[in-house]
Amino acid sequence: MKRIGMLTSGGDCQALNAAMRGVVKGLSENVDELEVYGFLNGYKGLIYGDYRLLTSADFSGILTKGGTILGSSRQPFKQMRVPDANGLDKVEAMKATYHKLNLDCLVILGGNGTQKTANLLREEGLNIIHLPKTIDNDIYGTDVTFGFQSAINIATDCIDCIHTTAASHNRVFIVEVMGHKVGWLTLYAGVAGGADIILLPEIPYDIEKVIAAINKRTKAGKGFTILAVAEGAISKEDAALSKKEYKEKVAKRKYPSVSYEIADRIFKETGVEVRVTVPGHTQRGGSPCPYDRVLCTRLGSAAAKAIMDENYGNMVAMVNGKIKYVPLGDVAGKLKTVDPNDQMIKEAKRIGISFGD
Ligand code: F6P
Repeated sequence: MKRIGMLTSGGDCQALNAAMRGVVKGLSENVDELEVYGFLNGYKGLIYGDYRLLTSADFSGILTKGGTILGSSRQPFKQMRVPDANGLDKVEAMKATYHKLNLDCLVILGGNGTQKTANLLREEGLNIIHLPKTIDNDIYGTDVTFGFQSAINIATDCIDCIHTTAASHNRVFIVEVMGHKVGWLTLYAGVAGGADIILLPEIPYDIEKVIAAINKRTKAGKGFTILAVAEGAISKEDAALSKKEYKEKVAKRKYPSVSYEIADRIFKETGVEVRVTVPGHTQRGGSPCPYDRVLCTRLGSAAAKAIMDENYGNMVAMVNGKIKYVPLGDVAGKLKTVDPNDQMIKEAKRIGISFGD
């Protein structure tokens, strides 16, 4: 008999359902009796005992379904040790729900913040398995996170569509790509979509270099330029500010995001028409791509094996193309960022892509 709990926390993405399906199918096939408690809306469900007892039928037919059948919410790690409005200790409440249901383990699907709380629960004595989810691909200790490839496809489609209209009108176009504080999604979608300029948080940009790259294209008879700009992109001047100064500056910024600020500077200095496109949450939506379906089926199946082996306290990760169990204590709280000296950046620069540095 196995009694497992499962929850999805943080921003959703494609293939959450595919991963949960992998876990439950792997267990149903190999365990005599199985009880699966699905906590609703992330850690909230665990804190307030809001759950549904699910059957294997609930996980049937969901491989291709986007979003999460359990719902999700953001529960910042920093807030976990802060009692709720009614004075409830959230960590104690989560432990109490776990013990009340007599769970063998809790399978937690989420990104960095979620992983930190998962590690906290592990330190508090719960049996935890973490599956690395996020379109941002910024989880340390795994080659890739699920959602990332699906999001690349969507952001690339967006850049592809922008290409035809940019060329027709001889305009500069900025496509703002998600990714929070890291540039993985922008880098891959930018290269895949043939962007001319790619701006990443890890490589602070010099606006004059960006403008010079646009002018160089114009001189060469190329009437349009496409920029893939990470939502977390930052100028060299801003990168030199302290965290506090930068926060204050952003709070006062008259533009909705960094892309509009860049667009304004380009227009003022070149006189060329600039348009900004923000695909936003579409990048997290829709059906998972085949790569993510395969990845999640493998991660889910490996999580089921870990549960059968009572091998807890790990993230189920992809390391050098192989599934590995990576201790949560080794990775929680670390961020995987793009290395500005990465081979891929050098190759992109070699073919003329500007990073504005
Ligand atoms: O972490 C995934 C992500 O989509 C980031 O790329 C983005 O910065 C953030 O979530 C958006 O969060 P929210 O859905 O809370 O607006």
